Amino acid sequence: MQMTSKPVISATGLFTPAETITNEELVESFNRFVALHNEQHADEIAAGDLEPLAPSSVEFIEKASGIKSRHVLSKEPILNPEVMEPRLPERGNDKPSYMTEIGVKAAMQALEKAGRDPADVDAVLCAASNMERAYPAMAIEIQQALGIDGFAFDMNVACSSATFGIQTAADYVRAGNAKSVLVVSPEITSGHLNWRDRDSHFIFGDVATAVLVEDEAVAPAAHWDILGTKLKTVFSNNIRNNFGFLNRASPDGIGKKDKLFVQEGRKVFKEVVPMVATMIMEEAERLEIEPTALRRMWLHQANQGMNRLIAQRVLGHEASEDESPTVLDTYANTSSAGSIIAFNLNSDDLVAGDTGVICSFGAGYSAGTVFVRKTA
Ligand code: COA
Repeated sequence: MQMTSKPVISATGLFTPAETITNEELVESFNRFVALHNEQHADEIAAGDLEPLAPSSVEFIEKASGIKSRHVLSKEPILNPEVMEPRLPERGNDKPSYMTEIGVKAAMQALEKAGRDPADVDAVLCAASNMERAYPAMAIEIQQALGIDGFAFDMNVACSSATFGIQTAADYVRAGNAKSVLVVSPEITSGHLNWRDRDSHFIFGDVATAVLVEDEAVAPAAHWDILGTKLKTVFSNNIRNNFGFLNRASPDGIGKKDKLFVQEGRKVFKEVVPMVATMIMEEAERLEIEPTALRRMWLHQANQGMNRLIAQRVLGHEASEDESPTVLDTYANTSSAGSIIAFNLNSDDLVAGDTGVICSFGAGYSAGTVFVRKTA
């Protein structure tokens, strides 16, 4: 009789770009752009035909979001008030793509931590909120760069891509289709952020994470049992990006505001907090875990206020930094990578038997929970 394989998390990896942009640097550059814009359009503004742009502020950003700084792949053009985009030079087909380059670094770290030879990995999922090209899949390029014999594909569920990737990987292991699956999330969010938009210019940062999901039979002794995963999607236009292959040639296509990240931040806040808190509690009940006894919550890192409220509803009290760690102060919102960074940087101190939840939420709406327990 064939036993069902049990998926676990063997290790995680993180690549952090060297360059950072502080709120002070960001606001200084944004406000120079605002001054230039208002100067260039002084006549229209004076005639009442155009609203002047309003400046940004460091205090607002920190108070509204908790973000203090972010890592980026290409700082200089982002801060140039006449550019305000990453402008990463296009690479030829003989060079690794940017997502592969940073994804491989995170993946190598996860593989090293697990003592895993890439030749023993069966599948690679590139789970991220944007892909650098349509095809071939980024995941297949990552697979080739790592020397993995097997299969690979891309998946995009916006900020929930990594948790959806973990459940997909876990299902492959359960079904016996793979014993070792890498879920890689290279998030170059600086490329889809509108750095000229006051409401959101501070939100995102770049990073790459990797999660190695394996059959317990081949995993290292010290790993994280996956107790259960739950995914949920509910359609909403409140976080949207209309860039796509059907509008690339339209005269007002590229460069138009809606071809980058746009959101109704307040609605997102109000609608997503109860959805996610309820989802975590219902899943905990299904898994017979007392939510108030969760040792740690590694939440999606979009907004400190959202995380505070979600953690409070689940734990029944205001969460300490130890119970619900923050990385968005230094990383900002890194889309699907956020909860994985939080887990990667804040899980070594837990002891065998400790139970926690990795949780993502974002555009779609989409939300995912992965309940885990440390083994050793
Ligand atoms: N600098 C200074 N003031 C700013 C500003 C900036 N950069 N951006 C907006 N403001 C002003 C607005 O003009 C507004 O002024 P008013 O009250 O005089 O009209 C005020 O600050 C509040 O703006 P609002 O957009 O309503 O802010 P908010 O408190 O809702 O915070 C978010 C904005 C985005 C941080 C917040 O809604 C949020 O985090 N939402 C969660 C969604 C999220 O993070 N999604 C990411 C994808 S998962």
